[in-house]
Amino acid sequence: MSGPYLHGHHASVLRSHSWRTVENSAPHLIPYLTASIRILDVGCGPGTITTDLASRVPQGFVLGIDPSASVIEKAKKHAEEKGVTNVRFEVGDIFKMGGEGEDKWDVVHAHQVLQHLQDPLGAMKQMIKLTKPGGIIAVRDVDYSLMDWYPNIEGLQEWQDLYIAVAQGLNADPNIGKRLHAVAMEAGVPRKDIETSTANWTFSTVEELEWWCELWADRIVQSDFKDKAVEGGHAKIDDLERLSKAFRTLEKREDGWFVVVHGQIIVHIK
Ligand SMILES: C[S@@+](CC[C@H](N)C(=O)[O-])C[C@H]1O[C@@H](n2cnc3c(N)ncnc32)[C@H](O)[C@@H]1O
Repeated sequence: MSGPYLHGHHASVLRSHSWRTVENSAPHLIPYLTASIRILDVGCGPGTITTDLASRVPQGFVLGIDPSASVIEKAKKHAEEKGVTNVRFEVGDIFKMGGEGEDKWDVVHAHQVLQHLQDPLGAMKQMIKLTKPGGIIAVRDVDYSLMDWYPNIEGLQEWQDLYIAVAQGLNADPNIGKRLHAVAMEAGVPRKDIETSTANWTFSTVEELEWWCELWADRIVQSDFKDKAVEGGHAKIDDLERLSKAFRTLEKREDGWFVVVHGQIIVHIK
């Protein structure tokens, strides 16, 4: 693994990852999901997208890899509970893959992974290496600088600035969603072979706001983010408690709205 994963795998983090499906997190990939393809899901986390992908390629196969053994166990359990059998999960690191004679894939997928890496370009090169000629790479990442909300609750802007500072302090790019195509180009892919799109998560109903705001209210003070923010000298515990409360205030607003903007690319490998 190339450096620490900012969020860690606290329950407040996994709660958000476990809600993810192909429909809400990989819409750009849906047109390419034919029945018998083989997919590698890089940084699969708790594997809900991975298992959903497998159920959409019934004669195909999906491998999910992640450096965290504990999250891989959760992913295995999730697939078992769903009764999906054409999926496998392994502890693995994108930077250690692609050895001599290793399998190549029809699709290499990564959701919300590149933003956490110190070397996203190296990861993209690895993904290219692992894709068959004629295959595709599908990558999607958030852009934290493009997140927006209503109303303008005190503390939310400070949270956004803090999150970006903490991630950048770890030499990661929390705004990489806007330049995924540029990373692929730097890795040697011609611009004409890259499709770009954006897609959002919108949280506005009472239930959506409750879910999104509570998980951030918890993450700020309970997950690895708290330690990274404090250890990096970006915030004190009191600040974090105040920012956590800002999310609880938004949660109670019937007119509340929060949008998360993602950049998405499909890279065609020739
Ligand atoms: C934000 S989570 C996304 C999980 C999943 N793709 C999803 O969207 O639900 C990022 C994941 O990338 C994994 N990761 C970090 N470094 C990695 C590496 N070098 N190779 C593969 N995965 C990595 C982390 O362990 C973490 O589970």
